[in-house]
Amino acid sequence: MATVSFNHASLTYPGAQAPSVDDFDLEIADGEFLVLVGPSGCGKSTTLRMLAGLEEVTSGSIFIGDKDVTSLDPRERDIAMVFQNYALYPHMSVRENMGFALKLAGESKEEINRRVDEAAQTLGLVDLLDRKPKALSGGQRQRVAMGRAIVRNPQVFLMDEPLSNLDAKLRVQTRTQIAALQRRLGVTTVYVTHDQTEALTMGDRIAVLNGGALEQVGTPRELYEAPQTTFVAGFIGSPAMNLGRFTVDDHGRASSGEAWIQLPDDAVQALADAGEKQVILGVRPEALQLVAEGEGQASGSASIPFDLELVEELGADSYLYGQIPGGSELSSGATTEEAASPTGNELVMRAKPRTAPAKGSRVVATVDPNHVHCFSVTTGKRINSAATVQ
Ligand SMILES: Nc1ncnc2c1ncn2[C@@H]1O[C@H](COP(=O)(O)OP(=O)(O)OP(=O)(O)O)[C@@H](O)[C@H]1O
Ligand SMILES: [Mg+2]
Repeated sequence: MATVSFNHASLTYPGAQAPSVDDFDLEIADGEFLVLVGPSGCGKSTTLRMLAGLEEVTSGSIFIGDKDVTSLDPRERDIAMVFQNYALYPHMSVRENMGFALKLAGESKEEINRRVDEAAQTLGLVDLLDRKPKALSGGQRQRVAMGRAIVRNPQVFLMDEPLSNLDAKLRVQTRTQIAALQRRLGVTTVYVTHDQTEALTMGDRIAVLNGGALEQVGTPRELYEAPQTTFVAGFIGSPAMNLGRFTVDDHGRASSGEAWIQLPDDAVQALADAGEKQVILGVRPEALQLVAEGEGQASGSASIPFDLELVEELGADSYLYGQIPGGSELSSGATTEEAASPTGNELVMRAKPRTAPAKGSRVVATVDPNHVHCFSVTTGKRINSAATVQ
């Protein structure tokens, strides 16, 4: 087991204009499960390959434990990788597949069998050891690929979208198993996914990458409750946070069409300091509450009317989708660019199941200003403190 440190590591592919990974700086603790998440092309696999030694860093350094591995071969780094396309050898049994790396390393037959049996026990593969890969389900194959990594007893596990070939149900099941297994083995793990739900459910900490740069690193709760940029705000959470551009008056009241929200004091102060009259506000779907008819303006701190267009009943919850009248500037799930350039006025809110008003009706929602996330329109960075995480 070991820590992993990236020290200002960058990588520019030959012939590329810009770095694919730019000044990546991160300490991963011994035994930690770190998830690297971000949209396609943001540099996740490249970061992992840099750590594995499959790509050479252009600048900066990488340490595993206190050993500088920056210029070491993959073989010398004591890591094991599980990829999305974990090609198993079709002509070998599960046992042979799992033990192959140990055989190449010249381990004795007894030692190989001992370690394969142990891993098979852990992964529930004992009854499948004599089968060939073609006689396995997708999930079983995935576990064999995991087993191949485990038997090597590495200092660090690297996993690149290992679940993406599985169907939705199996993915959920397997992600729980992997997270539990990692905790049991206690091996430092860097896990790549583009799926924010996977990141939230599996990671001790999550590192969000965007365009080759690290946007924010934190626990799942920190990222959810205190996103530091509009990008993280829009990326983490499903349905995505409502994000939109509002105009702020002299009393700290932000409005967009008929919707208004009284801003928290620290946001008002930050906007005054920056001389800005506009702000990007973010509100999670569950932070909105319906106001009963006649109490539309009652809360005194926010009033967000919207025309209900769609109700999604999901059993335990329902989601209401609608448009803010006259508000051309609010859009749900917006990226920094979208949020900053007014496009839509859609709103999504969570409500108790089977309580939704009729489609087509005008409803009013309110929000506790402490649950409003405020971001600068110029930098996309957070300007108010978060409600629950300090
Ligand atoms: N061998 C290569 N040569 C040149 N450019 C590359 C190479 N591999 C990746 N890139 C570029 O580097 C950037 C990051 O790619 P990377 O594969 O790390 O993204 P990713 O976050 O893993 O994406 P995905 O979720 O689609 O797997 C992309 O713009 C990609 O086009
Ligand atoms: Mg990738």
